[in-house]
Amino acid sequence: MDIEKFISEKVNLIRRTVGKDKAINALSGGVDSSVVTGLGHRAIGDRLQTVFLDDGLMREKEPQNVAAAFEPIGIRVRIIDVKDRFFSALKGIEDPEEKRKAFRDTFYRCLGEVVKASGARFLLQGTIKPDIIETQKGVKTQHNILEQIGIDPEAGYGFKVIEPLIDLFKPDVRKVATGLGLSEAIAQRMPFPGPGLATRCLGEVNPERIEIVRRAVKIVEEETKGIAAFQCFAVLLKDRATGLKRDGSREFGHIIVVRCVESENAMTAEPVQLKWDVLRRLEQRIAGEIQEVSRVLYDLTPKPPATIEYI
Ligand code: XMP
Repeated sequence: MDIEKFISEKVNLIRRTVGKDKAINALSGGVDSSVVTGLGHRAIGDRLQTVFLDDGLMREKEPQNVAAAFEPIGIRVRIIDVKDRFFSALKGIEDPEEKRKAFRDTFYRCLGEVVKASGARFLLQGTIKPDIIETQKGVKTQHNILEQIGIDPEAGYGFKVIEPLIDLFKPDVRKVATGLGLSEAIAQRMPFPGPGLATRCLGEVNPERIEIVRRAVKIVEEETKGIAAFQCFAVLLKDRATGLKRDGSREFGHIIVVRCVESENAMTAEPVQLKWDVLRRLEQRIAGEIQEVSRVLYDLTPKPPATIEYI
């Protein structure tokens, strides 16, 4: 793939499509939305407004970290607090596809309001090829798929969508990130799904349960830093298991699964053979630091038959 040619074609496409109007894009800090942010700013400068929807489902300090990562290259990221809206939309929902639907609808409603308030007409987003393939195969409706499943974004939410990365797989997106001059930390960042920790929380998504999985994800990311893997994260199961508190009393506690996979493009994946001492350290920290957790498991399942995330 000719990266320079790709960048100049997409920059021209964005310029032509947006014309003299404005556009909005939602940055999550993942490589796809980071690349779209870079392309969009190169194409239309400050007429692209980059927002970070703080939906309460992100990793610890993610909104501030993402804004800080883009500041040095002159891109201002506006953080918008929409936590209450997401938690009320997700309240009581356990079915995975219902969760995805509630997430998607709230996400685009919020963005629709930002677009309207700013006078923009376009939303730039970082949909990539596997998002489309998996949604069309019926595996799951990825959060950023609209037109492909019959949702008209203009009628439903008041904006047109521009998707410059729609034909790419992740390895090429990373090359474009480097070609745009984004830092290696951004270009090589582990993928993080749009619906965030909601994809790693079985059962109801609420602030208390998200906090448990957020703390577990942080420990997994810290303890697996430097391990060659596509993604490493933690998942909170809906079920509980009996355990012992520090004072020896019985506790019917939470169960955390650690998932660590190797993959080229997320279409297939293999579990990483973590060393025993890494696994033991993960268990000791997760069960030791998160009081509500009584068990830690390691997921051995490749994709297929499993998917990478849990919903
Ligand atoms: P699955 O779970 O489908 O994940 O095997 C494949 C890759 O996609 C990410 N993923 C998502 N990314 N919106 C996204 O932006 C989503 O709704 C979504 N669901 C899964 C997942 O983290 C993995 O890298």
